[in-house]
Amino acid sequence: MNPALTQFGEQMSHLTGVRAIMKDIIETLKTSGGRDFINLSAGNPVILPEVEQLWRDCTEELLASAEYGEVVCRYGSSTGYQPLIDAVLADYNRRYGLALSDRNILITPGSQSLYFLAANALGGYTTDGALKRIVLPLSPDYTGYGGVTLIPEALKAYRPTLEIEAADHRFKYRPDFSQLQIDSTTGFVLFSRPCNPTGNVLTDDEVRKIAALADPLDVPVFVDSAYAPPFPSLNFTEMTPFFGRNIIHCVSLSKAGLPGERLGIALGDERIIQVLEAFLTNMCLHSSRYGQAIAARAIQSGRLADLSTRIIRPYYQAKFNVLQTALDAAMPGELPWFLHRGEGAIFAWLWLKDLPVTDWEFYQHLKDVGVILVPGEPFFPGLDEDWSHKHECFRISLTASDAELETAMQRLAQVATQVYAAAPAMPQATVQV
Ligand SMILES: Cc1ncc(COP(=O)(O)O)c(C=O)c1O
Repeated sequence: MNPALTQFGEQMSHLTGVRAIMKDIIETLKTSGGRDFINLSAGNPVILPEVEQLWRDCTEELLASAEYGEVVCRYGSSTGYQPLIDAVLADYNRRYGLALSDRNILITPGSQSLYFLAANALGGYTTDGALKRIVLPLSPDYTGYGGVTLIPEALKAYRPTLEIEAADHRFKYRPDFSQLQIDSTTGFVLFSRPCNPTGNVLTDDEVRKIAALADPLDVPVFVDSAYAPPFPSLNFTEMTPFFGRNIIHCVSLSKAGLPGERLGIALGDERIIQVLEAFLTNMCLHSSRYGQAIAARAIQSGRLADLSTRIIRPYYQAKFNVLQTALDAAMPGELPWFLHRGEGAIFAWLWLKDLPVTDWEFYQHLKDVGVILVPGEPFFPGLDEDWSHKHECFRISLTASDAELETAMQRLAQVATQVYAAAPAMPQATVQV
């Protein structure tokens, strides 16, 4: 059958961003003929024994309780399962001195769906035909933002400034406030903090400044806190979650070990929460109640926040250190390579300045030596302008073993050396951007 698709059907039936590359990766692994690859593409968190045990314990407690039938044999409220709502509100209100109530919270089936709801309720065309933009103030950012809107022209990302520490081969993105426009055409602002793919953490001041630009216009700012404290606490640098009149703080339970249960949480202004809740009800009623019930236990008892800082954060921070030490040792000092400062999340982000081939071609060369990482271009959703930097970056997952990370960085250094050497003029490590 070949049914006629609507405009939305046409758009939503294509894989966007990194998911299209994942298809190539799966194909490569399937047809490898038994050849071993070091796969550094994974976005799936590592199953850490202590974290798995926590979810096992919470499940056993749930099974042994009278609550079980209520949880799995019944539909529930679209706002969320009440014990989870109570646990989250108590935790955040106590931790951050807030006064959030039931009207300020919505549980969603994963946080990706939360961005879909926001993108299509607050971005796109208004009833009088005006285009409201989804503003990503610092590109690159989460590739999933590329697939959430039904109106692709609504997505608008801004190129960052680059802070380069040439001697150390490190760099960091900063929002370019001289370019960033938040005005009456803005539907809402969205960014991840800590950021997937770069590991960047926008500073408290930067977040405050963005929020202050949006506030007088009644523009909501969605802070994607999938890696933020208090769970999974995948920040390696100090950061304070930021709350305010126009902030929608968005949490995910995925990197705290529960990606399969699909749990996202929105915290913020009651009017926005109501809009998102109605949209969610129309779409799919509510998130899985089993996931919500075990999350309620893990949060209410403090076990999740404790494991996050004691187990999850140190695990990935140590991986980042292994990776940066391996790169420092293997990469020739004269090549213009720059690793983004590792401030959080579960990825490293490498920039090969003036790379003589595209990120896609370099990815293919790496596959030839048995290493898979993700080319950077799909992490610039909404940034339509031509910018060579978009084809010079790579996301490296920190979910591999130490030995795999070390070997992969050695092979990457060899491939980079060959690729730069084959180019007409060898670029220098000292750069001007
Ligand atoms: C920054 C960021 N936001 C959102 C998501 C989506 O997470 P969820 O599993 O909660 O839908 C991810 C998943 O990797 C992510 O990295």
